[in-house]
Amino acid sequence: TFVIGAACVDVMDRACVEECPVDCIYTGDRMAYIHPTECVDCGACEPVCPVEAISLAGDVPAGQEGFVATNAAFFDTPLPGRDSALGSPGSAAQVGDLGVDTPFVAEYEK
Ligand code: F3S
Ligand code: F3S
Repeated sequence: TFVIGAACVDVMDRACVEECPVDCIYTGDRMAYIHPTECVDCGACEPVCPVEAISLAGDVPAGQEGFVATNAAFFDTPLPGRDSALGSPGSAAQVGDLGVDTPFVAEYEK
């Protein structure tokens, strides 16, 4: 899967959201998150991000390994203020802006 890293935090340009053919890039508060199993690895999002925040999970920049786990945690653990995990909604457009981040991202200092 592809993941979104630190460069997206407090930028959240959303060009990637428009580009993804399977609509699997979900928006939080400070950044966006790629659904690890809904992503079909097409790679279309990677070149359109103006801050180069997107990479393959196995190829994240040094020191950003935590973003691999946090892209997954956004979906498989309950977000702050919610009772249950998002799971696999199948469409970011249908879900809309979530407006919250994983604790890792909420506390991340750029
Ligand atoms: Fe979508 Fe990017 Fe995956 S465009 S399918 S999130 S590689
Ligand atoms: Fe973030 Fe880049 Fe997408 S800033 S929302 S990963 S286009």
